[in-house]
Amino acid sequence: MTGQRVALVTGAAQGIGYGVAQRLGALGHHVALFDRDAALLTQAEQALRGEGLDVSALEGDVASDASAKEAIALVEKRFGRLDILINNAGISPSHGGYSQLVEDVPLEEWDRVLAVNLTGTFYMCRHALPLMKARKWGRIVNFSSQGGRMRSLLSGAHYAATKAGLIGFTRVLAGQVGGHGITANCIAPGRIDTEQSRSFGDTDTYLKQLPVGRFGEAADIGDCQDFRVWAGG
Ligand SMILES: NC(=O)c1ccc[n+]([C@@H]2O[C@H](COP(=O)([O-])OP(=O)(O)OC[C@H]3O[C@@H](n4cnc5c(N)ncnc54)[C@H](O)[C@@H]3O)[C@@H](O)[C@H]2O)c1
Repeated sequence: MTGQRVALVTGAAQGIGYGVAQRLGALGHHVALFDRDAALLTQAEQALRGEGLDVSALEGDVASDASAKEAIALVEKRFGRLDILINNAGISPSHGGYSQLVEDVPLEEWDRVLAVNLTGTFYMCRHALPLMKARKWGRIVNFSSQGGRMRSLLSGAHYAATKAGLIGFTRVLAGQVGGHGITANCIAPGRIDTEQSRSFGDTDTYLKQLPVGRFGEAADIGDCQDFRVWAGG
């Protein structure tokens, strides 16, 4: 590691985002925890500080451009930089644990899933990029899903559309920013044991198909990606 980096993790109050924030913090980086759930966020901040990690909480909604802009501006004001952006916040509305028929998806729900999962990542990137470009270094990780790569019986069409869309978005982004010392990558996990995935149906059938016989855990995502490599260079 070449010193402390400044990271921002969206959806960091629980689940995968919390696990990634914990990992980045343990590597010695400052981690801004961005989440819209104020109570959970305070708990997460206190728990991570209790482990001796250097974290701060930012309450906001990635689906709001103003909120995304404000969060990045606060990081810039405090640190003068943003090196690592993890776009993890995402929602997957559950209807009895299975995907709904397309014609049954409520319009408001369709709009909200696109706004949080896809447009939210765009908002965060568009405000973070000037800071990264100014320092000619940055690492962006966007959270796709297995549901964006193959047909899922559990996730809705809106969720799958956003997660497939993030792969296309990230490919274009990576091509545009590579020359500025910035990388953009997607993670597309299978099932990880979190609040979100606990609402999905057909757990036993799914488990039987997994070679290791268990779902992934948030820490697996933090560990399987070599943040040390991203944070070096
Ligand atoms: N859990 C899985 O099996 C799985 C598999 C593949 C991909 N993913 C993806 O990983 C990411 C994290 O999933 P998770 O299972 O940890 O979810 P989770 O529901 O356990 O946690 C999501 C966090 O994001 C926050 N959040 C939600 N909407 C937000 C918004 N608009 N602005 C700011 N914060 C917001 C929530 O408050 C929560 O703290 C998501 O993008 C999800 O689609 C999860």
